[in-house]
Amino acid sequence: MITCSAPGKIYLFGEHAVVYGEPAIACAVELRTHVSAKRSDAVTISSGLGTTGLDYEIHPYVSSVIEKLGVMEISVDISSDLPVGSGLGSSAAVTIATLAAINTELGLGYSHRELARMGHEIEQEVQGAASPTDTFVSTFGGVVEITSRKRLDSLDCGIVIGNTNRPKKTAVILEEVKRRIKDFPDIMDSVIKTIGSITKRGEISVLEKDYRSLGRLMNINHGLLDALGVGTAELSALVYAARNAGAFGAKITGAGGGGCMVALTDSPLKVASAIEAAGGQAIITRSTPLGVVQE
Ligand code: PMV
Repeated sequence: MITCSAPGKIYLFGEHAVVYGEPAIACAVELRTHVSAKRSDAVTISSGLGTTGLDYEIHPYVSSVIEKLGVMEISVDISSDLPVGSGLGSSAAVTIATLAAINTELGLGYSHRELARMGHEIEQEVQGAASPTDTFVSTFGGVVEITSRKRLDSLDCGIVIGNTNRPKKTAVILEEVKRRIKDFPDIMDSVIKTIGSITKRGEISVLEKDYRSLGRLMNINHGLLDALGVGTAELSALVYAARNAGAFGAKITGAGGGGCMVALTDSPLKVASAIEAAGGQAIITRSTPLGVVQE
């Protein structure tokens, strides 16, 4: 039996703007999905959702991996630190960890690059559309500028995620942003370009390990995500609670409209309790250079 794990991710900068060609920076976090694969008589998939065979309703990503690899004699067992559907890349993590575990268990010989490509194709098939960000970061780990695939230094400060536990549909929010851009093109184009400038400036702060400047730039990015229309009162309550508790900076991470915010801090416990007091579910984590690994 082989067990592999793959990480989830946060966006430090540039979500939404990346869809319009601007750079973005994502960061793999030490919240992982673990998948064990074992050669077996038939297909079995076990997770917190139950035990099934190939089942595109209950286990769409894992079923698609098994179909894509063309293996019909495999038993897969999944456990995860990542909340589902909250913008932290849980579907990419389960897809990449399953691809890697079956690849190793059955000696299929695919490279990491091929696993990342197949993972992206599977996300596109299951979701209709998907950017390569989540599967790329889950495969290779680290802090990554997405458009150039440039790897930056990892972050040496605490990361606290605040989950609103409000489900959000990325596709719906992308449509809303598109409409706002169409209705006010001259204004919204400059918002998108300014987010791109923040990302470029943020890249320097990551390399200089200047977390104070990084946090201030995240705060500005949050304001512009609000301008794009993806903020909610609950997300902002968690963002302000984190800042008031002394975080370097805090912003929405991912599509917005619900889901999660993220704060950088040297006092994770203090920031986490402020987020909880403001009604969020806090998760303390760290940046990780490790992408998919065998355990
Ligand atoms: O919340 P998530 O992880 O689905 O992130 C969406 C990020 C967007 O930039 C809004 C869309 C994308 O595919 O890049």
